[in-house]
Amino acid sequence: MRKDKEKFRVFKEVFSESTMRTIYKLSSDGYIDYIIGPISTGKEANVFLGKNFDGDSIAIKIYRIETSNFNNMWKYIYGDPRFEKVKKRRRDIVFAWAKKELKNLEIAFNAGVKVPEPITSRNNVLIMSFIGDSEMPAPIAKEVPPKNPNEWLKEILDYIKKMYNANLVHGDISEYNILNFNEVPYLIDFGQGVIKEYPLAEELLRNDIKNVLKWMKKLGVKTPDFEKVYKEITKGDSRNG
Ligand SMILES: Nc1ncnc2c1ncn2[C@@H]1O[C@H](COP(=O)(O)OP(=O)(O)O)[C@@H](O)[C@H]1O
Ligand SMILES: [Mg+2]
Repeated sequence: MRKDKEKFRVFKEVFSESTMRTIYKLSSDGYIDYIIGPISTGKEANVFLGKNFDGDSIAIKIYRIETSNFNNMWKYIYGDPRFEKVKKRRRDIVFAWAKKELKNLEIAFNAGVKVPEPITSRNNVLIMSFIGDSEMPAPIAKEVPPKNPNEWLKEILDYIKKMYNANLVHGDISEYNILNFNEVPYLIDFGQGVIKEYPLAEELLRNDIKNVLKWMKKLGVKTPDFEKVYKEITKGDSRNG
C-alpha cells in the first residue's frame, strides 16, 4: 500500500503535463519505446530504466522542473560561455541543465572516459545508455567499493586528466557518482560539469581531485600528494606554464 502511494507521489511530481509531452515527442522521434520503472530518485532528477525500439536498455534522466534547485543550477550555468544566452527563468535553466549534462557527457565520451553514452536531450529529459546488466543497474561505488582501489585510483585520475585535456571538469566526482560495473568505474552525473573557461573550473578540479584522494585513503590506498597529482593533471595546459 505505502509503496504504491509513494510511487504515485513520484509519478505526479515527475510526469507533469509538459514532461509527458516531451517524453511523447522523444518516443515519436524514435528514442523511447517504453519506460520500465524508476532506478533512482535524486534531489533534482529521477532516473528511469527504459527500452529503445531496438530493445536496448536506456537510462532516462528527468529533471523535475518545479522542485529542482534552479538557483544552484544557475550558479554553474552563468559564466559558462556555452550557455551565455540562457535567461534566468526556472524552466530555461532546468532545460539548459539537461542540455549541459548531455554536452558534458559528449565531451567525456569522446575523450575516451568510461561514461554512459550520450544519446539525446530534449527540454528537461536526458537519454543515455544504461550502465548495467540487462535490466539490473550497476551499483554506485559507495555501495559496492572496488576490489582493487589502487587500480581505480589510477583509472579515475586518468579520467580526470582526459577530461581536462578535452577542456572539461566534472565538478561533482565522488563515490556516489561512480558506478561499479563489474569492477570497471563509470563516471556519471555530469550536470555540474564546466569547461575550463568557467570562472570556478580550477576550484572544481581541485575539489574533484581532493574528493577522490580522500575516498581512496578511506579505502586503504597509500595516496599520492595532492599538489603532485594536480600538477600532473594540469601539466601541458598553457595557462599553467
Ligand atoms: N546511465 C545510467 N545507467 C544506470 N544507472 C544510472 C545511469 N545514470 C544514473 N543511474 C542511476 O541513477 C542514480 C542517479 O543518477 P545521477 O546522474 O547521479 O543523478 P542525481 O543528480 O540524482 O545524483 C545513480 O546513482 C545511478 O544509480
Ligand atoms: Mg548523482
